[in-house]
Amino acid sequence: MTPHKTIAVNASVKYDIVLGNGIAKEIAPLLKNVLGSCRLAILTDDKVDGLYGKKIETLLNEGGYDTVKFVIANGEESKNSTNLMEFINFMAEHKLTRKDAVIALGGGVVGDMAGFAAAVYLRGIKFVQIPTTLLAAVDSSVGGKTAIDIAAGKNLMGAFHQPSLVCCDTDMLKSLDTNVMRDGYAEVIKYGVIADRELFDKLKSQTEDINAIVARCVEIKRDIVEADEFDTGQRQLLNFGHTIGHAIELLSDFTITHGSAVAKGMLIAARIGAVLGMEDCSAAIKEVLERYGFDLSCPYSAEEIYEVALSDKKRSGGQITLVIPERIGKCILHKTACENLLKLLKEIEL
Ligand code: GLY
Repeated sequence: MTPHKTIAVNASVKYDIVLGNGIAKEIAPLLKNVLGSCRLAILTDDKVDGLYGKKIETLLNEGGYDTVKFVIANGEESKNSTNLMEFINFMAEHKLTRKDAVIALGGGVVGDMAGFAAAVYLRGIKFVQIPTTLLAAVDSSVGGKTAIDIAAGKNLMGAFHQPSLVCCDTDMLKSLDTNVMRDGYAEVIKYGVIADRELFDKLKSQTEDINAIVARCVEIKRDIVEADEFDTGQRQLLNFGHTIGHAIELLSDFTITHGSAVAKGMLIAARIGAVLGMEDCSAAIKEVLERYGFDLSCPYSAEEIYEVALSDKKRSGGQITLVIPERIGKCILHKTACENLLKLLKEIEL
């Protein structure tokens, strides 16, 4: 067996995250352990398909799996109801049954949509994540949040549906272009700020091995998901930078990528934290984000961000939950009246 690390997740479904260089070679035997024999519907995007589609399909076929493959265009715009319905119809046309499964081969868009399709097709079939971006490896492939975007906002239609396995081949990350890799580092830096000062400090020197980084992030996420799988409390900490980040992403019509928007959102949240009397972490966060090449300017006004942030699902009643760093390595959930968000954004002179 290729050298790897296994991180066990003990959620409503127990599953393993198997991580290592070249571990995708073992995909068929890994699947045998969790799925037995069945047919597989692979969902991927055109970019990933060109790089890994044939290789993964061949490994699966040689391992005894009959596969069908559905390819969507690369990019956030693809995470829509039209593609979802086409993929679900595709599975129905190919007569996939309840004992069959979905393989998500790709980044966050593919993983979120494949997971949602698996959650609703025949009232739920199994699915497996093969993340091909750093962002998907450290965040979206783990924890069972699946969704598509709708006109009113990002991820507003979805389900909690845990994967049966996450197979993270870190060699796949080597093919990522700088911008896509940088996007993933926004989530990595997030983990440092919310839960691990040591990780944050290591990121400053940029010397940490990618396997160790992914493993540490996944362990942090695993611990949070195990404590609050259905996102009613502590899991909201994973939204650090995301409330403002999603608003920026939407306002830009997705021309600002998720990671870049979250980076801007994390800095804004840290500045809000300082106004609320927390330790001012904004300089430290800015320094690390700039080291990874993030543009931290915000092209939108406080009013624009506020309007869009209110349509985000983190709002509840007249209140919104902000994730604020208390210090590097610890964040808190700060519930406040929606109008206060506008005041705070103005106070930091956004
Ligand atoms: N990406 C945030 C979460 O999984 O809760």
